[in-house]
Amino acid sequence: MRLVILETSKSVGEWAAKYVAKRIKDFQPGPDKYFVLGLPTGSTPLGMYKYLIEYHRQGKISFKYVKTFNMDEYVDLPRDHPQSYHHFMYQNFFQHIDIDPKNVHILDGNASDLNAECERYEAEIVRAGGVELFIGGIGADGHIAFNEPGSSLASRTRVKTLAEDTLRANAASFFDNDMNQVPKQALTVGCGTILDAKEVMILITGAQKSFALYKTIEEGVSHMWTASCLQQHGNVLLICDDDATLELRVKTVKYFKGLMTVHSKLIEDSTD
Ligand code: GLP
Repeated sequence: MRLVILETSKSVGEWAAKYVAKRIKDFQPGPDKYFVLGLPTGSTPLGMYKYLIEYHRQGKISFKYVKTFNMDEYVDLPRDHPQSYHHFMYQNFFQHIDIDPKNVHILDGNASDLNAECERYEAEIVRAGGVELFIGGIGADGHIAFNEPGSSLASRTRVKTLAEDTLRANAASFFDNDMNQVPKQALTVGCGTILDAKEVMILITGAQKSFALYKTIEEGVSHMWTASCLQQHGNVLLICDDDATLELRVKTVKYFKGLMTVHSKLIEDSTD
């Protein structure tokens, strides 16, 4: 596991965007070789999307040969609802880049058979050749995608009932602070689905996520802090700001900050 510690949330967005740009560039995607990207919603990745859009406008990155799979979607929220993840993704990212909409995959929370929709999604990921880079965030309770505390760490894409903490956090950020407006269920990729990706990159910002970051990396693997499943993955990159490290040991922070010159090489020439 690598932990990149940056000063601000803004630099987390910029660093993450540079890393994505470099990974896509180095992969040299083409009509017979698509780069498969797993994508999150939430407030944390917004900065990364802004930088990616900017690099695209500057002609530094193309998404023509990129396929995307989003992590999750609410159940029973109309696709054009301002808080649906479909709407979020087109508004904040897809409509500003050159991705072909047929290469965009987002779970359909309005499908008549939700279990069949989840199975179809898993099969679609396999058909695309698996996810090359899965990007995510974490909840303050350590959840990843919508894998709430207690979720199986071997789970696949499925329907999940959302935890009270998640309803409250999402109400505050996106639903006028009204928990009743937040859908109670969502479709989400499982921890097992995420662990199948060749690489996982997680963005964590703010003091409110610092305990979750500590539980994710400094304690044991636990289904009560589902992001800790990443300890079992061989290629994980966590990018956080200083505030998110508040609950980490000084020793941990010092060690990873000392590796910054090594980490900087990961984004070298990314936007040339
Ligand atoms: C939701 C999403 C997660 C996201 C989390 C944190 O629960 N399902 O994928 O990581 O919120 O969101 P934010 O970045 O807004 O704090």
